[in-house]
Amino acid sequence: MPKTIRYRVFENPDSAAAQVAGEIAQLIRERALLDRQVVLGLATGRSPLPLYEELIYQHREERLSFSNVVTFNLDEYTGVGRNDPASFHTFMRKNFFDHVDIPARQIHFLSGTTPPAKIAAHCEAYEDLIEKHGGIDYQILGIGRSGHVGFNEPGSSIVSRTRLVELGEITRNDAARDFGDSLENVPTHALTMGCGTIMEAKRIALLAWGSAKASVVRRAIQGRVSSKVCASYLQKHEAACFYLDSPAASLLKVEK
Ligand code: GLP
Repeated sequence: MPKTIRYRVFENPDSAAAQVAGEIAQLIRERALLDRQVVLGLATGRSPLPLYEELIYQHREERLSFSNVVTFNLDEYTGVGRNDPASFHTFMRKNFFDHVDIPARQIHFLSGTTPPAKIAAHCEAYEDLIEKHGGIDYQILGIGRSGHVGFNEPGSSIVSRTRLVELGEITRNDAARDFGDSLENVPTHALTMGCGTIMEAKRIALLAWGSAKASVVRRAIQGRVSSKVCASYLQKHEAACFYLDSPAASLLKVEK
């Protein structure tokens, strides 16, 4: 039987983010002392914002340097250029990269404007690059209302790799807010790290806030491991933890 995913409930997103930021900062400092890099897997969306704010604060006020940090972002919309205001590139620059000292050459993204004929090779090269860096040490995840992690929509296999995917209806509806509230403008496809890619990360922190996530959080943590809710695969990961605020944890059954 799969074990239950570890989860921690915090009073609010800021206190959860402070905990995760503290873990990341410790890892960065430990590696810096050994003159080694840390590989972070990063996510977009509203959920990681308090974490990025806290890391920026630690950079400014507590002299946390990110010079030994290498990053790989989870996903990107197809057909959206890196400088497009709605791209995940832009999101990350605005909310994190522009405010810390990660050398540009250490920041990695999937490119949404890869020509269709080159997508498979592009995705494979992304996987190779992660491997060449020794794998992801600490992966940050959000969770979509469809239970997706990255853009691994229901039906994605636990061994899926980085690839082109079609976005589901719930996901596209939720994304419309970033595309002028118009569903028509939301891309139909994206490139995403696969569930198998994500599962290879050494540690995983999934962040979820608010009552809108309560139902999918319960299914991921206490439901059956199933491709219907890809986040449930994390039940099979040795070092995955959900960081929740009380509303996101409100439907979890208390274990006896
Ligand atoms: C998008 C991203 C996911 C993210 C999800 C939830 O679909 N590809 O990585 O987890 O949105 O976003 P939010 O954190 O805004 O609820």
